[in-house]
Amino acid sequence: MAKAKNSLGGRDILDLASLSVEEYELVLNTAAEMKRIMQRDIKKVPTLRGKSIINLFYEPSTRTRTSFELAGKYLGADVVNITTSSSSVVKGECLRDTILTVQSMRCDAIVMRHPVEGAAVYAAKVAKPIIINAGDGAHAHPSQGLLDMFTLRERGLQFKGAKMVILGDILYSRVARSNITAWKKLGADVHVVGPKTLLPYDIASLGVTVHDNVEEAIEGAQVIDVLRIQLERQKSGLFPSPREYARVFGLSKKRLALAAKDCIVMHPGPMNRGLEISWDVGYCDQAAIRDEVQNGVAVRMALIYLTLTGGKPIETLN
Ligand code: CP
Repeated sequence: MAKAKNSLGGRDILDLASLSVEEYELVLNTAAEMKRIMQRDIKKVPTLRGKSIINLFYEPSTRTRTSFELAGKYLGADVVNITTSSSSVVKGECLRDTILTVQSMRCDAIVMRHPVEGAAVYAAKVAKPIIINAGDGAHAHPSQGLLDMFTLRERGLQFKGAKMVILGDILYSRVARSNITAWKKLGADVHVVGPKTLLPYDIASLGVTVHDNVEEAIEGAQVIDVLRIQLERQKSGLFPSPREYARVFGLSKKRLALAAKDCIVMHPGPMNRGLEISWDVGYCDQAAIRDEVQNGVAVRMALIYLTLTGGKPIETLN
């Protein structure tokens, strides 16, 4: 597909650093239209009829994979899921051959999650179909960043100057990197906090304020994005015990009271309830966690629509 001027047509979506603020706006405004479609009784349009999308996931996922699948289906595309644990990857097929194999089947887009940083960039170099990065190691999770942005905008947040805190396992978090990139571009005052062992040594170079004391970080925050402790990526214990982590760094109601009155609580999911976030905070009105999930479908509809159609006017959907 030829690259369309001033649109995301034909573009790979690899990270949020390579998208402009105007392109964030394009995705968010399109997602608002998509949300209206998915709230109809019959939430299906024929816009992507004849297009095929492969979800190629080398890591587990509930939210991202399911929402990309529904997004494609709501827009009329054919969507096929490949779970690598039951694919020829277990027989030793390399990433390049797997991508070329699905490309030979004439798919138009590959939505890919992979444990290695840079895997999506590599796939984009190898593959002709559009590559949408659904998370590569600790590098980037652009659709999560965009759905978080959409959710915050929907709740009325003005990003410029807002105090936004990312709490927890920053070291292994692609969500943290995508959100820091986007929030800084939007002019927010971004803070990160967690145990020193879970803070990358060079994190301050991203222009964030770094804390190892939660109370100090949270004070007056308008947004707290709580990150999952990614135990599956830790080769050795990076904090003494779950109980101690919850006591020193977990987001409790008492700690949340230090933030701004209407502070919005985010979490990309899945949550370790009772570890990085208490049960009551996870279910409280300030928590936008379920909105994030619903908006994930709308934002992913927008991404595949914009990249696969070249961004033709949204009115043509009706
Ligand atoms: N937020 C997120 O990426 O969740 P999943 O791992 O369930 O896709």
